[in-house]
Amino acid sequence: MRKTLALAVAAVVALGMSACNSSAPSEETTTEAPTPAAANTDPVLNVYSSRHYDVDKELYDKFKAESGIEINVVEGKGPELIERLVREKDQPEADVFLTVGAESIWQLREEGILGSYQSETVDANIPAEYRGDGWTGVSSRARVIAYVKDEVDPSSITSYNDLTKPEWNGQVLARPSKSSYNQALLASFVANDGVEKAKEWAQGVTDNFGRTPKGNDRDQAKAIVAGEGKLAIMNSYYWVRMKNSSDPEEQKVADSVGLIFPEDTHVNLSYVGVIANAKHQENAVKFMEFLTANEAQSMIAKENGEFPLNPQTEVPEPQKSWMPFKPQKVDFEQLGKHLADATKIFGEVGWE
Ligand code: FE2
Repeated sequence: MRKTLALAVAAVVALGMSACNSSAPSEETTTEAPTPAAANTDPVLNVYSSRHYDVDKELYDKFKAESGIEINVVEGKGPELIERLVREKDQPEADVFLTVGAESIWQLREEGILGSYQSETVDANIPAEYRGDGWTGVSSRARVIAYVKDEVDPSSITSYNDLTKPEWNGQVLARPSKSSYNQALLASFVANDGVEKAKEWAQGVTDNFGRTPKGNDRDQAKAIVAGEGKLAIMNSYYWVRMKNSSDPEEQKVADSVGLIFPEDTHVNLSYVGVIANAKHQENAVKFMEFLTANEAQSMIAKENGEFPLNPQTEVPEPQKSWMPFKPQKVDFEQLGKHLADATKIFGEVGWE
């Protein structure tokens, strides 16, 4: 992801300059508390997104073609965008926040940034466990265990705890603990099993590291193929992206590693949240309905290797070959509450 906020789509406007003149109602009303932005029917939707995938741009174009609603996108890292949403809270520029990692829902809610919406369509598209007040999941990505095919019997590993077994000493690779994917993984263990157990797990994995954590998820897969270890923690969609890569080296890595979906596989949720007092509430809901409908779900699954959340959507290969697996049950709205504990544990066990 890019370090700085970047304007992503060609048709972007400077949001601060307002593509629509709706911030002040034209007629003066009373001097009571400021009314929420009046319902605005301009065919515009302002999206802040921390997703950074090609398929997203196709989705924006498709949404515009179908609805006539122009999308202005501000892309950035999640924390930077959240900081901006907080700063703009009284006069929000964004209508929706599209992001990865359900762990931010808690913070958005605490800061009063998430609004609410009603849509029978979204409710019908997405199972209740993957949506909540003001937000809906769009896709999921499983955080799984990659193994070197020639060297590991995949049936010998059935849980995340297996990564802590002495037999894997010096064989486990993972990216640094500051990665939001690892933070959310450990936060989910804190949420479900408590601090002590989560710490035991993190200690066990750290003790088994084959090297000091570095690089991204794909680098872990490359490193185990290069012989730096035998097992790696990574998101399933990176495997798909490597398999479909134009780089033959990445294809080779994908062919050399298999994925184990452990019991209660942790899933990283990508979700869209509606911003409180957004100017284009109706358009925001239309966008949520669009993203959760079969066609968009199918595009995300096929082109980005993610899992659709709409049960009507056919899961493409290779994801289909990994099913069925049992996703971890976790309260997505509360996950973020446990991030502080996760960070503390990583520090204590020495997971760099
Ligand atoms: Fe990612």
